[in-house]
Amino acid sequence: MTPTQEIEALRDADNTSWFHPWEYMPDAGHADRTIVTHGDGIYIYDENGQKLIDGPGGMWCVQIGYNRPEMADAIAEQVLRMPYMNPFSLTSAPPVRLAARLAQMAPGDCRHVFLTTGGSTAVDTALRYVHFYNNVLGRPEKKHIISRANGYHGSTQLCATITGKDRDKNWFDVASPLAHILPHVNPARRPAGMSVEAFCDQKVADLEAKILELGPERVGAFIAEPIQASGGVIVPPDGYLRRCWEICRKYDVIFIADEVVTGFGRLGHWFASKDVFGIEPDMIICAKGLSSGYLPLGACLVSDRLFAAVAGVNGNGASFGHGFTYSGHPVCCAAALKSIEIIEREGILEHVRAVSPHFLRRLHELREIPLVFDTRGMGLVGCVECTVAQTQGSDLDEAQVLALDTDLGMRIDRHCHELGLMVRPLVNQCVFSPPLIITREQIDHMFDILREAILRTMHDVEQELGIDVA
Ligand SMILES: Cc1ncc(COP(=O)(O)O)c(C=O)c1O
Repeated sequence: MTPTQEIEALRDADNTSWFHPWEYMPDAGHADRTIVTHGDGIYIYDENGQKLIDGPGGMWCVQIGYNRPEMADAIAEQVLRMPYMNPFSLTSAPPVRLAARLAQMAPGDCRHVFLTTGGSTAVDTALRYVHFYNNVLGRPEKKHIISRANGYHGSTQLCATITGKDRDKNWFDVASPLAHILPHVNPARRPAGMSVEAFCDQKVADLEAKILELGPERVGAFIAEPIQASGGVIVPPDGYLRRCWEICRKYDVIFIADEVVTGFGRLGHWFASKDVFGIEPDMIICAKGLSSGYLPLGACLVSDRLFAAVAGVNGNGASFGHGFTYSGHPVCCAAALKSIEIIEREGILEHVRAVSPHFLRRLHELREIPLVFDTRGMGLVGCVECTVAQTQGSDLDEAQVLALDTDLGMRIDRHCHELGLMVRPLVNQCVFSPPLIITREQIDHMFDILREAILRTMHDVEQELGIDVA
């Protein structure tokens, strides 16, 4: 087979055989995805050999970048030494060392580490722990979980019940009497005339009102991403997270910080909860950057307080009947330990803190473009949201605006691709969370391309519709 034939065969097999996550079913069989062949540093290469800055860093996870021989060596060594170990009855150095390391890094007293296969299974573990904990304590009513609109916590059935992204829930039966979703916390979408401070008060009040409505004795936990990632990089107003945490303390509601995206350096710290937001959660979820995406892994960290209340003499004869064949997989844990070592040795957390002001400056400069409605970000994660709604001198109706907006992310992504950048389109938004090793010059290159792609998209839309986006 020639290389071209090989690519065509791959594409055919992909179209016909691989049922992808988030498959848009009308396109099934002819989705014609970009085929990536290899990666190096912050770059990935497509089937045509085109070099692309990996804007989304895989899926918010490739912290240390691609092509790290040290990672390959650590993984290979563990495969040869001990590729698998039964985690129910045995133990082994890589998961033990990783658990001890995470316990030492985590804020507060989150020192009990349950290792999982990814983010969803870690969130599932947390939610099941809340139920287990309250059953063991003889409070079977205290099971309700509060989450927020635009929050994403994973794709298992239990996670899906608390997801706040309607588009992810349509077509599934995930309604649960135990799940309660608060209104959005996006300051850019606050009511006209309301200050950000007043909006923050309102959002904190939403949580307290929901706890009181359900009855604190029935509310088990509140779960929140410190920054809502796939919901559109929504950075809450200053003080919001801390005030929610205080309310949870007040009503004895477990605070679960879903740090699947914000952990492992994305905001310049191992965990963002304490160092960025000043809170010490009762449980913390991590995944993705934990192993820099090199192998699948997640963790649910449980506080001493929650653990001790149902362990030892308080154990009440209960066993936590939950876990996975691949909990604490030694090869995945060896990869995570090596990735952590690299982040530490290369000063990657410090690097993120040093370059992120420039990253955010370049991001917010995009607001000058008329098509841009909002830019949001923190650390090395950002989002640009576009809309044609502010179009002047046109008679577009709401449905036309919606149809156009729905397409904007994809249009921008297509132009970015031509220009050498991969972004993640989410309806009318593009999000990016590049590998944390990105340099200041590479950040400039990334935003130069993004800016040009948005301008070209705006031009296309204006030409097609004979309108003026202003
Ligand atoms: C905040 C958050 N929580 C949980 C998950 C689920 O993680 P996974 O896809 O590894 O199951 C994700 C995935 O994007 C996420 O962003």
